[in-house]
Amino acid sequence: MKSFLTTADWTRTELDEIIESALRFKHGDDQTKPLAATSVALVFFNPSLRTRASMQVGIYELGGNAVVLEPGGTSWTLEHREGVVMDADKTEHVAEFVRVLGRYCAAIGVRTFAALKNWDEERQDPILYSFAKYSAVPVINLESAMHHPCQAVADMMTIREKLGSGRKCVVLTWAWHPKPLPMAVPNSFALAAAQMGHDLVVAHPPGYELDEQLMATIRQQATGAGGSLQIVRDVAVAFADAEVVYAKSWGAKQFYGAPEQDIAARARYRETWMVDEQKMAGTKNALFMHCLPVRRNVIVTDRVIDSPVSVVIDEAENRLHVQKAILAKLLTK
Ligand code: CP
Repeated sequence: MKSFLTTADWTRTELDEIIESALRFKHGDDQTKPLAATSVALVFFNPSLRTRASMQVGIYELGGNAVVLEPGGTSWTLEHREGVVMDADKTEHVAEFVRVLGRYCAAIGVRTFAALKNWDEERQDPILYSFAKYSAVPVINLESAMHHPCQAVADMMTIREKLGSGRKCVVLTWAWHPKPLPMAVPNSFALAAAQMGHDLVVAHPPGYELDEQLMATIRQQATGAGGSLQIVRDVAVAFADAEVVYAKSWGAKQFYGAPEQDIAARARYRETWMVDEQKMAGTKNALFMHCLPVRRNVIVTDRVIDSPVSVVIDEAENRLHVQKAILAKLLTK
């Protein structure tokens, strides 16, 4: 049994197979129903539009049934720590929750964002791996503290559709946002782009470095796949040669637990790190990408997101096709 927790657990060949399968679903060339008479649990600790809707629709289109649960809302509050005395606000442990769901459902998807309180703890993705530890059925990461692999594969599919399957100059750029956000999307985008052999540029202001260990993996993957990794701190030079600009804001590791310090530290980057027409003009007519939801005229100007180079709606559509491919790969008997 294999889960889908991070693309690092999957080879380049396997990821290519998922994208090819997603393209067959998208073009109507695969009408199979591998989830007939099968239920899949979707557990959402956090809000969602794209992930929830595309998973529910995808499971339906594959012949299956989605069971959507929101711990603390439509199901009991959940504890994931081991050996704790559960005399506070948590009603049920992941140990029982996951094993019970596994008796009803063929797979479990889970969304569990970083709380941005304790970096050393959250970088270990404790809730995601607690689900994986106890589950007897595949677990699909629908965005955890450190990874959003379904988004990343949909992004790689979108790049391939728009620009072909060759090596491209792909810029992941930090952007200002009024509050610190988790790193799952940038982590997974950078990792998948490296696995696909793209020339990856990660641009961010000083202090907004991604996880050191993950960056070492990303560098190794990029080199191994025939691509490269460059880290740039100057937004003015980051966009040169870009064929893809992927914007995302994220919080600084050193300010986990102190959001007001992050907000103060990032204030100076508000104007300079927004994706605008001037920056895009310095690229090789780059695509503009963002996972959505996006704050207009904060992360990106209206003129860029509404321009022909913006592919944000295609990315969102591709979530559906990629997740169908992942479900089919994990659950086809
Ligand atoms: N990109 C993405 O995961 O969107 P949602 O948070 O709306 O699911």
